[in-house]
Amino acid sequence: MHIKKIKAIKVFDSRGIPTLKTFVYTDNYITGVSIPSGTSAGKKEAVELRDKSKAFFGKDVTKAIDNVNKIIGPRLVGEFLLDQTRIDNLMIELDATSNKSRLGSNAILSISAAICKAASKELDVPLYQYIARLNNKKIDKKTNFPKPELNIINGGEHAGTDLAFQEFQILPNKNKISQNISMSAEIYLQLKEILSKKYGKSSINVGYEGGFAPNITDPKIALDLMEQAIKKSGYSKDVFLGLDCAANSFYNEKSKKYFVNNKNYSSSQLMEYYADLLKSYKQLKSIEDPFFEEDKNSWKEFTKKYSSKMNIIGDDLLVTNPKLIKEGIDKKYCNSLLLKPNQIGTITETIKSFNLARDNGWKVVVSHRSGETEDSFISDLAFGLNSDYIKFGAPARSDRNSKYNRLLEIEGVYLEE
Ligand code: PGA
Ligand code: ZN
Repeated sequence: MHIKKIKAIKVFDSRGIPTLKTFVYTDNYITGVSIPSGTSAGKKEAVELRDKSKAFFGKDVTKAIDNVNKIIGPRLVGEFLLDQTRIDNLMIELDATSNKSRLGSNAILSISAAICKAASKELDVPLYQYIARLNNKKIDKKTNFPKPELNIINGGEHAGTDLAFQEFQILPNKNKISQNISMSAEIYLQLKEILSKKYGKSSINVGYEGGFAPNITDPKIALDLMEQAIKKSGYSKDVFLGLDCAANSFYNEKSKKYFVNNKNYSSSQLMEYYADLLKSYKQLKSIEDPFFEEDKNSWKEFTKKYSSKMNIIGDDLLVTNPKLIKEGIDKKYCNSLLLKPNQIGTITETIKSFNLARDNGWKVVVSHRSGETEDSFISDLAFGLNSDYIKFGAPARSDRNSKYNRLLEIEGVYLEE
């Protein structure tokens, strides 16, 4: 039950950009976890170490790999595998910065997650079970499955179009995860038919997270298309709508204006725009990053108005950071947390952020990044922590479906009635 060796290698994410896969060597196994990376990252995320050399337009990870293989790994050899908190704290101390900028959140998280998975293997329990144990909770197979938010139209920085909002999501609301994924895949294929008939075959090209990227600029058209697809599939009663506006990406810090559908909006005008959307689309029950991360008065006002009606999710605003989450709770900036392990950099801190949000009555959404690999660690994380929601992209492309398929496997095989 002790760490014998740690080794990182370079692998590639769904965008073709290098990332790390780190292996932990223990008595009986060699266990690897690869980690994701964002495109529209929040300003205060823990620092992902990139080489900034010519290779891969500055995005190579040889320094982060060296940090695992030459600095952190050797320091952790001999540590007890089940001491997740101690090991994470040792890495935080070794890094000795407030944002993991010396050793890199990518280097640190790849080890933290691989140790967690290696421990589950040596104990011969499923990963979700070990994560629940780390959090001192028991699994309830009836209530532990989260509800999915599936992004079936991509815009913002995730698509080659001028659609300002980044994600247009369907939120299926049945109890069983298999039913929810199945319904969503049917709606996805229905949307494909609608798009290709209406706009031609180029409209079914997809963005980073597997959602379609038609050449439209008006968010209302995207919502209309989704409503049609839901209705045609016969699921109008079972499916809500959600948005990740990712407003950082259409906010101009100089002019202090938001640019949506070829028009500039002040904060208060954007607030009116959202009011109109909520009036027109009664099914809209979730909104993420509606405002720029520093436009906190707008966040507060929005939450005051709509908190009882919908989930208002902080992603770039909170970056899975316990200090920022605490501020968000105290000042009522929003009512839900997007939980992304690589925004903070260790499993221990990820669980701490989860509990802080949950204990204060917030909803929690466990989320992928736009640059993903086939790794499904976050599925076990979501199920093991009993998160309210998951956000893993469209029900298409294996970088996304590896996560949904893992949950289907948990439901259909591990927890078979
Ligand atoms: P990112 O996008 O991974 O590119 O940051 C995901 C999100 O904004 O939720
Ligand atoms: Zn987001």
